[in-house]
Amino acid sequence: MKRVLKWAAIVLLVIIAAVGGFAAYVAIRGIPSYEPHVVEFKVVSTPERIAHGRNLAMMLCVHCHTDPITRQLTGTKLLDLPAEFGTAYSKNITQDREHGIGNWSNSEIVYLLRTGIHPKTGKFVPPWMPKFPRVSDEDMASIISFLRSDDPLVAAQPVVNKEGEPTFLAKMLCYIAFKPLDYPSAPIPVPDTTDKVAYGKYLALGVLDCWTCHSGDFKKMDMVNPEKSFEFFAGGNVMLDANGHEIPTTNITSDKRHGIGAWKEADFVRALRTGIKPDGTPMRFPMVRMPQLSDHAISSIYAYLLTTPAIPKPRQEPPPYTIPTNASAGMKAYYKYSCQRCHGESGLGIADLQLAGKKYSADSTLIDVIKHPSKYWPDTYMPEWESTVSDQEYTDLAVYVRELGKKSGR
Ligand code: HEC
Ligand code: HEC
Ligand code: HEC
Repeated sequence: MKRVLKWAAIVLLVIIAAVGGFAAYVAIRGIPSYEPHVVEFKVVSTPERIAHGRNLAMMLCVHCHTDPITRQLTGTKLLDLPAEFGTAYSKNITQDREHGIGNWSNSEIVYLLRTGIHPKTGKFVPPWMPKFPRVSDEDMASIISFLRSDDPLVAAQPVVNKEGEPTFLAKMLCYIAFKPLDYPSAPIPVPDTTDKVAYGKYLALGVLDCWTCHSGDFKKMDMVNPEKSFEFFAGGNVMLDANGHEIPTTNITSDKRHGIGAWKEADFVRALRTGIKPDGTPMRFPMVRMPQLSDHAISSIYAYLLTTPAIPKPRQEPPPYTIPTNASAGMKAYYKYSCQRCHGESGLGIADLQLAGKKYSADSTLIDVIKHPSKYWPDTYMPEWESTVSDQEYTDLAVYVRELGKKSGR
């Protein structure tokens, strides 16, 4: 008996030492590295590909890589990363040869986007930079064509990259849970776009990643077979807005009561196009409208979602913001329409409105900018409010936008 206990104690000590040793290794070595492979991906740039690639990048890259101050893809702090993972900065992906990706080959960019392995250093790129393993070769060629184009968003800017500080938990998860993906061994075709369900599935699972945010738990996602993910499309993943304030995703399965099963197609198209839901309230950040999608594309996503298994999981409302009861009418409207979820409580979040008061000195112009943002930025994700905001509220909002600008001292 004594001998058994002695052996048990030795085994336990060895386990403790191994776990401790592994923890020390993770803490010292940081995010893991892999041997990057050389792949061959040819891109012939055409005006059509550049235009299509811009549309894709507006939906897939811009909200993370745009610095709200430079308004170019020079990288910025990720405001919506949960604190338990530490801090992270997206990178300069303009054409600058030293600080951006101007000296990366097309194949290197595609390799990173599909596998998550940095082609120059071999370092694993953590999940806060998404991977795009299902995007077709054609769509990938378009994204590359855009990144190489003379679009002002990607014009070379010598902005130095900032390094984030991942926590021990983040580093540890990059050893045990988050792994790079294999580079696809065969070409990835675009499905037949006239087959709505197939095309909608490609968009929702392959390109726009609706399923990752909208499934039940990030930790229980099946990256290879999305449909096998826990509570597929039933919502509940808790996201953060520009103030780090929680907001759970919603159920968008075919369930008639809790999902979108009872939504009319026109309602769904309107929500994705303008940002306004059937009940007249805006979808709140990080859900953004996608004016780049054609009606056919949106209706295909709708057709596909209606084929997903109905899961009767009720929606969770995000915790409300509290503002003083004697807040000004403008402040009330700012929170009522969830402006703060993008622009931050200070006016500078993932988007900046602190300089708007100076830029648009006439009230009528400032109000018009808030009312019809697409007139000024045709593919912006700021919502088009349609008739949901009253004239009085637009006036109040303009007053509050000027106030935030003055308070910022910029
Ligand atoms: C959810 C936010 C997010 C989205 C969306 C996103 N990125 Fe990133 N990206 C990041 C972060 C964060 C990093 C830095 C990762 C790290 O620290 O290793 C990064 C790194 C990169 C890098 C590596 C740059 C370098 O110098 O190391 C490239 C290239 C890149 N992203 C391109 C893209 C493209 C193209 C898209 C759209 C198709 C995109 N990203 C979408 C957050 C994002
Ligand atoms: C970055 C994460 C993220 C991605 C990607 C995403 N969503 Fe969302 N979505 C959310 C969040 C968070 C909400 C909840 C917003 C709210 O409560 O106002 C939401 C809400 C919605 C709603 C409103 C549902 C309701 O009942 O209120 C619809 C519809 C929707 N998303 C569809 C989509 C589709 C379609 C896609 C892919 C094209 C998509 N989402 C991609 C995070 C995301
Ligand atoms: C979903 C995110 C989002 C929401 C919600 C949002 N905005 Fe914006 N807003 C933006 C973005 C992004 C821009 C910058 C335009 C661009 O480049 O797309 C912008 C630009 C602006 C500008 C012009 C800034 C300038 O310097 O030109 C004003 C003013 C503004 N928003 C006010 C508001 C108000 C008021 C609300 C609420 C009623 C609001 N926004 C809600 C994302 C948002």
